[in-house]
Amino acid sequence: MPVKVVDGRTYLENARRLVDELLDKYIPPEDTEPRSLHVAMRYSVMAGGKRIRPILALAAYEHCGGDTQKAATTIHPAVAALEIVHTYSLIHDDLPCMDDDELRRGMLTCHKKFGEAMAVLAGDALHVIAFKLMAQAGSTDAVIELAEAVGTTGMLGGQVADIQAEGREVSQQEVTNIHSRKTGALIRGSVRIGALLAGADELTLARLTTYGEKIGLAFQIIDDILDIEGDQKTLGKKVGSDNKNKKATYPGAVGLKQAHHEAATLVDEALGVFEDYEDNVLKYIARYIGQREN
Ligand code: IPE
Ligand code: IPE
Ligand code: MG
Ligand code: MG
Ligand code: MG
Repeated sequence: MPVKVVDGRTYLENARRLVDELLDKYIPPEDTEPRSLHVAMRYSVMAGGKRIRPILALAAYEHCGGDTQKAATTIHPAVAALEIVHTYSLIHDDLPCMDDDELRRGMLTCHKKFGEAMAVLAGDALHVIAFKLMAQAGSTDAVIELAEAVGTTGMLGGQVADIQAEGREVSQQEVTNIHSRKTGALIRGSVRIGALLAGADELTLARLTTYGEKIGLAFQIIDDILDIEGDQKTLGKKVGSDNKNKKATYPGAVGLKQAHHEAATLVDEALGVFEDYEDNVLKYIARYIGQREN
């Protein structure tokens, strides 16, 4: 069954529920060995979160006319893979050797709860499960897409640049480059994987790629803004982490006002990809990303 489109908000709620069910199904149960590792993995994955990457993949799949009869053996394992790889990246991002954060998704970070060794291993294990699940989706292209989104040219390359930029001034161009890789690449990849699994034609894939790039960069600009203007309770993570770590951020490079403006412009450009469409779910998600408070 496709996620029923009622209105944008209900779509997100229904899709989130589906993603949670899939994650519960695909992450090993806590009572199987190695129990302590499975407990740590489940703790971080099932802690909630916006589930925006899997939802984007699902919405792109449906937008491109993906076969809903085959969803259980194609897009469903793929969306779980995307959220699992994202959760692994958060667990490692929070480690003392990275951003050294203690709150995530309204709970203690994985290493604060289970210790650093278990957090590293939980991240490693989630990374592996994600690739197994993506392989189950039945498309070599989708597996390669995930590897490129997460690898040295994508998220991991961005994380390296993020760490290396700590403590120095960066230009808008440099921070754009960091953000497009550390966060944008997986968001872009999520949209593309949904489209690839649906068998989208080249033109549609190109348009969705542009959409993914715009909202991916906007997503991280807003993450930086929320680290200054957000509310800890709503965010589920501590504000001021970037300042503490002297991170390269968009507000740091261009000022808060301009950062807001850049994010809004990117969302508008993403909406422009669908200007010949009536309101659709992907448009709703772009606006949601522009207005999010967590
Ligand atoms: C946080 O991602 C880390 C970034 C890449 C900005 P999200 O804001 O998607 O976090 P969750 O998954 O909703 O917790
Ligand atoms: C995280 O960026 C990017 C990845 C996890 C790949 P941040 O370090 O800004 O994310 P938060 O603010 O800790 O969620
Ligand atoms: Mg970080
Ligand atoms: Mg961080
Ligand atoms: Mg941040």
